[in-house]
Amino acid sequence: MHSTQQQTNSQTSARYDLTTIALHWMTAALVIVQFATARIWPLFEGDELETDLFNVHLTLGILLSLVIVGRLIWWLLFGEKQPVRLPAMQRLAANSVHGLLYALVVGQVGIGYLIGWGLGQPINIAGIPAVPALIVVSGENGHILEGLHGDVAWILMAVAGLHAVAALIHHYIIRDHVLLSMLGWRNIDERRIDA
Ligand code: HEM
Ligand code: HEM
Repeated sequence: MHSTQQQTNSQTSARYDLTTIALHWMTAALVIVQFATARIWPLFEGDELETDLFNVHLTLGILLSLVIVGRLIWWLLFGEKQPVRLPAMQRLAANSVHGLLYALVVGQVGIGYLIGWGLGQPINIAGIPAVPALIVVSGENGHILEGLHGDVAWILMAVAGLHAVAALIHHYIIRDHVLLSMLGWRNIDERRIDA
């Protein structure tokens, strides 16, 4: 194919579909809010705000579980995959980090449900019981899960931070379309597509 034609084609398709983009940013926002609520509520021990933040954590936790399942189904069936071509090593690194992020979010949501159920009450939406307990893990095993949930939270923030820095390096240093492809830009300037 003529190179100008090829570049035009690549540029006009060089973004994720809007559903993938919406689900990505919802996931990112929810993961960050989940981390923040859980880190802030201990500061208000014994206060009503502690309970409120805990309930926000459970409510948004349920939302996150729906978003991540929706996202995986969308990715499997319809989602645009890797609209920007990258050198093999960069693509391998990106795919590994993305796979790890999916695994961490799914794992963390699963552990969250197990802890919530182990506390002996249905997981609530705004204080109203919403998801009844399917499996109850309590006692010492419940404590182990709580510790794991706290540790995975830090690991998830670290990997997501690395991933965000990589996206910024792509944008400002390598100057390709990777970040723009996840922001929804379709017609982009003279930046290179095939890095
Ligand atoms: C907790 C936060 C985040 C999570 C869990 C997350 C997760 C993911 C995952 C799983 C993918 C793979 C997309 C797919 O093919 O389905 C992805 C792609 C992407 N993310 Fe994130 N992300 C987060 C935050 C961010 C932030 C803050 C930025 C920007 C600064 C960002 C920029 C991107 C970009 C540009 C891509 C496309 C990469 C490519 O095409 O190779 N993400 N993200
Ligand atoms: C990626 C998403 C999530 C993150 C980053 C996150 C983070 C955290 C953190 C940092 C804590 C405090 C742990 C500690 O005491 O050190 C916590 C506690 C908790 N989380 Fe999550 N969480 C997430 C998702 C969920 C979900 C989906 C649920 C349930 C639907 C959930 C339920 C709980 C419960 C019940 C606790 C209280 C544990 C206790 O009694 O100490 N979390 N979460």
